[in-house]
Amino acid sequence: MGFGIANGMLLVMIMFFMFPGQAMGSTRRFNFEIKMRKVNRLCEEKNIVTVNGQFPGPQITVREGDRVIVTVINHAKYNVTIHWHGIRQVGSPWADGTAYVTQCPIQTGQKYVHDFSVSDHTGTLFWHAHITWLRVTLYGPIIILPKKGVPYPFPKPDREVPILLGEWWKSDTEEVLEKTLQTGGVPERSDAYTINGLPGISNCSNKDTYKLKVEPGKTYLLRLINAALNSDFFFKIADHTFTVVEADAIYVKQFETDVIAISPGQTTNVLLKTKQNLPTTSFLMVAKPHPFGPSIEFNGNSTIGILEYSQPTKSRKLPLLEPNMPDYFDYELSHNYCSKVRSVDNQANVPKKVDRHFLFTVGLGLTECPKNQVCQGPGGMKAAGPINNVSFEHPEIALLQAHFFNKSKGVYTTDFPEFPPVYINDTNNPLGNAITTKGTRLVELEYNTSVQVVIQGTSTLHTPESHPFHLHGYDFYVVGRGNGNFDPVKDPQLFNLVDPAKRNTVNMPPAGWVAIRFVADNPGVWLMHCHLEIHSSWGMEMAWVVKDGEGQNQKLRPPPPDLPKC
Ligand code: C2O
Ligand code: CU
Repeated sequence: MGFGIANGMLLVMIMFFMFPGQAMGSTRRFNFEIKMRKVNRLCEEKNIVTVNGQFPGPQITVREGDRVIVTVINHAKYNVTIHWHGIRQVGSPWADGTAYVTQCPIQTGQKYVHDFSVSDHTGTLFWHAHITWLRVTLYGPIIILPKKGVPYPFPKPDREVPILLGEWWKSDTEEVLEKTLQTGGVPERSDAYTINGLPGISNCSNKDTYKLKVEPGKTYLLRLINAALNSDFFFKIADHTFTVVEADAIYVKQFETDVIAISPGQTTNVLLKTKQNLPTTSFLMVAKPHPFGPSIEFNGNSTIGILEYSQPTKSRKLPLLEPNMPDYFDYELSHNYCSKVRSVDNQANVPKKVDRHFLFTVGLGLTECPKNQVCQGPGGMKAAGPINNVSFEHPEIALLQAHFFNKSKGVYTTDFPEFPPVYINDTNNPLGNAITTKGTRLVELEYNTSVQVVIQGTSTLHTPESHPFHLHGYDFYVVGRGNGNFDPVKDPQLFNLVDPAKRNTVNMPPAGWVAIRFVADNPGVWLMHCHLEIHSSWGMEMAWVVKDGEGQNQKLRPPPPDLPKC
């Protein structure tokens, strides 16, 4: 008997040493082959860059606590990186997939193995290319289920459905980007927005419309992802409401709404309860861009899908009920929506004291037009996307390598301005201070620094816009937001330090501000940027260098041997 127990213990010990990962979670492996594939959209065939020939790309499903190993093999003619948006990469910054920040791109014919763990998240995130505009077709869902045996904090849904919002160009987006940066002007707009890769409206095929088939009296978990390049969305389904349960893969205080506001880089899980009785109509689902739309119009440039109840008799064609959509410029609505997103926990771990304060102004800027060139930006200059009047320039080698090997000289400086160079009335001074310089300037943070950043949208050149800001390597608390200029005396008194949302992407009202806090406990070099692709291409990016701590597990580890070379 005693012998048996000893044997049992031995077996457990052997199992632990053989499969150390098992104690925490499983190891999940994925192969991502970047390759071209022809698809038909808007009545035209187009050759697009895909992962494994799929569009939208393959779904990664894991559990919280799992180790994930993704091998990316590049067969396309473009340099590629893949970023796991919202995964914190604690201890694995080399796997973040940010071109020229954490790694050099994976060149044609090369491969790179990303090895990271998924912790502190349950819900929906997504992966996408993080170089030029390739994420227009290179994106897919990351679904993080709770740890084994841990239930959802809501009744188990009958079905789970990813809803990816995207954007479609007939033209080659790599050329659109190149031309835009070359001329300094504004890019042409996309031709359509998409739901799960489908533009919704097309004259040649009804296969272009996404259909969600449902049954009465059931609960569906919709996993919404805004993977569009340049647009916020309002999302609605006619005559149905949602319960929001999670944002950016963190549970939130549940609330009911008939409209979802979602910005590029944001994800959210919502419960959809279907009607008890079989309805006599089908229902339109609409994602309406705001404030701008593409060239194909439906009810003002939106993309549509159909919610259809399975009917006992097949042949009946039911009328379609349309939702009333909010106005393009209804930023009051998105502001209120964002304010409703709150942490579940009232004792949320919000940093109460701040070691370092930052104020970042963001808006449209201008850089000089090179001699002998005609530029198409405002005033004959080049359009730019500055933060504190600095437009971020990507270096030739990856910042994280330069940092780790102490070779930052000539690659980057650590003098990124903590405040705008001239404090002007930012929200009411259209011509004020748009002049922008270029540079690869970073902020250096000691390990464990508690950071507050107020991101202030400006109305330089009469273009107040909302900017969805995304931080790599961290989730942050959204402690405040408001219209107009941030008031450093009054506004902090109203900060929510009790149950603010914890997320990885947040926007501010146009010509308004948002205040975020995080503790710099993840060493590495982490990009922070506007998730509107055109703005980040114009330089609306900066990066934090977070230094090592004293402890053994607070230090950067050397890069994996297959880290791509520039
Ligand atoms: Cu979704 Cu820097 O990325
Ligand atoms: Cu922006």
